[in-house]
Amino acid sequence: MPAIEIVADELGVSFQQNGKDTVLRAALRAGIGFPYECNSGGCGSCKFDLLEGDVEQIWPEAPGLTERDRRKGRLLACQCRARTDLRIKIRPGSEYQSKIQPQRQPACFIGQEAITHDIREFRFAADRPARFQAGQYAILDIPGVSSPRAYSMSNLPNEEGEWHFQVRRVPEGQATSRLFHHLREGDEIEIDGPYGLAALREDNGRDIVCVAGGSGLAPMVSIARGASTKGLLTKRHLHFFYGGRTPRDICGETFLKVLPEYGIKIHYYPVVSLPEQDLGIDWKGETGFVHDVVRKVLGGSMPDFEFYFAGPPPMTRTLQEMLMVGYRVPFEQVHFDRFF
Ligand code: FES
Repeated sequence: MPAIEIVADELGVSFQQNGKDTVLRAALRAGIGFPYECNSGGCGSCKFDLLEGDVEQIWPEAPGLTERDRRKGRLLACQCRARTDLRIKIRPGSEYQSKIQPQRQPACFIGQEAITHDIREFRFAADRPARFQAGQYAILDIPGVSSPRAYSMSNLPNEEGEWHFQVRRVPEGQATSRLFHHLREGDEIEIDGPYGLAALREDNGRDIVCVAGGSGLAPMVSIARGASTKGLLTKRHLHFFYGGRTPRDICGETFLKVLPEYGIKIHYYPVVSLPEQDLGIDWKGETGFVHDVVRKVLGGSMPDFEFYFAGPPPMTRTLQEMLMVGYRVPFEQVHFDRFF
């Protein structure tokens, strides 16, 4: 069991890496504020300098590292396992500390439901209560799939131990092929979580904006459900934008309609970028890019809102730039985890 010592600016800390944990997951499990977002090798937030020791790299070509990083010998903590004791250098931050300690646990597949032509909700049940914050994700080890996959929960924490994930089928995707075509009720997977920083904030009175694209629907549905359940919408409004390519990609209303604030405090804006592609569906809603509709609806009042978003990287990049550069929405009011 290798020990890992972090040499930080202030105090040094150390922790142990157990079993098949990566350096990152071991650190977060130990309560350390190790910088991260995606846990999947894409965002580059978990880069570290290795001062001493030897690691196994799980995905050496992970896009989270630039060529310059590689030349400098930097590594991604979410894509490394310690082979020996390590000394590493990072700058930890309390904002990265897990509020709920991530745990690995087996879970059984208990059911699924089609949401659109290519998104399905998959439900699993574990023996322990499901502890997470609305908007977070978990890492699934699915038998027959070569590496773990991160998916966001669409439901809320619960005593029954249920974890629900809305997954978009990826053509030729190994994990989605297993989920969509081979999973049978009673099959067991492993769930490790919760992870993620874009969780619902309850410490302010600002109106809420959720923007989802594609399979980014799940965490935004969870945020909306959480805001409703926690009574945040008695005084606040929630604006929910959902962008798809064609009308048959559009969903979201089904989940919002059942919330008591729908149509009163919850406002739904579906947007499609290619309305003419679904012959037979007479699209009467907004067209174009979802960020343009956010701008049209909220305009110059954007700095007054608390933003959550999830979706394809071009959408999240554009939104981030529009909000933080274009409209000067304070950094603390913008919540998203970058996946690539
Ligand atoms: Fe490691 Fe994103 S690359 S957390």
